[in-house]
Amino acid sequence: MFGRPLSCCLTTLCWMAYGQRGKEEDRVSGAPKILIYSQTAADEYAGMVRAAGFPAVAAATPAEALVHISEAEILFGWRIPSELWRHAENLRWIQAAGAGVDDLLANPEIRPDVQITRVVDQFGGPIAEYVFTYLLHLLKPVERLRAQQRRHEWRPLPARDLVGLRMGVAGTGSIGRELIRRARAFEMSVIGLNHSGAEVPGVERVYRYDEWPQFVADLDVLVLTLPLTPATRHVVSEPILATMKDGAILVNVGRGALVDTKALLRHLQRGRLTAVLDVFEEEPLPADHPFWNLDNVWVTPHLSGPSQPRRVAEYFLANLRRYLAGQPLLGVVDRDRGY
Ligand code: GLV
Repeated sequence: MFGRPLSCCLTTLCWMAYGQRGKEEDRVSGAPKILIYSQTAADEYAGMVRAAGFPAVAAATPAEALVHISEAEILFGWRIPSELWRHAENLRWIQAAGAGVDDLLANPEIRPDVQITRVVDQFGGPIAEYVFTYLLHLLKPVERLRAQQRRHEWRPLPARDLVGLRMGVAGTGSIGRELIRRARAFEMSVIGLNHSGAEVPGVERVYRYDEWPQFVADLDVLVLTLPLTPATRHVVSEPILATMKDGAILVNVGRGALVDTKALLRHLQRGRLTAVLDVFEEEPLPADHPFWNLDNVWVTPHLSGPSQPRRVAEYFLANLRRYLAGQPLLGVVDRDRGY
């Protein structure tokens, strides 16, 4: 986990000195090569990394990345193309620029000795706001009142409240915990589910992965914040959906493949459930997918936990300094656990 043999540590010393001396010595021999890959923010990330004193190359396309991958010791990026792995002979560390690493772990070509880290503790706030934006919108007649306003019509309409509704949060990591804190502030009754049933502050009870039917049976709202792993793929299956109460709301901010999409579609087409879906088994959601046209489905394009480049770059730089100093990294992924 500590990453680097002695020769690398010597390089590290040079490199740390480099970081202090500045850019004029861009060709420090043996400095670990950093490749930054992002379709949308590669130059922005690279600018911040270089401004901190570390040389890095940026790539926004697979072709650009292929030019540099064989030399790279460190790869920082998001949605990294799989064609890079077979050329990544010098790679020792991948820093994912987001929370979920299911795409990386699904790829057997990434050598087991390559350490993978992910960003933790940055997405809970925005994701919780996304969830409550949609829950409040579903419970309160905002759109109908707006339509009445356009007609200059003064007519009170009934609304439902969050108070007293039962929310189940599947996945009680940093994202789930932010959600739980806010649900408690709305005086909801909250239960959780995690791998081991480990205690979580603010919830009435925590269920284990093998207790899904009991967990969902009485929920008004089920929110999925789980990572996608072999243990969670299609965990919201036909029988679990059938166990949910009529009228319950499913919010998926984790990964699309947590849910059996075909089974969910059947329940939605019958009007039994309502769904707020930010993630899908196939992204972008195909233009002809039936979800788009269902009134009881809210589709958003995987935006609930946006990466803020400055914060993510700071996280990478903090980890880079640890890496260079031979210290344990933040957000280390346990490949067996899957996150
Ligand atoms: C986004 O989906 C992330 O995993 O950060």
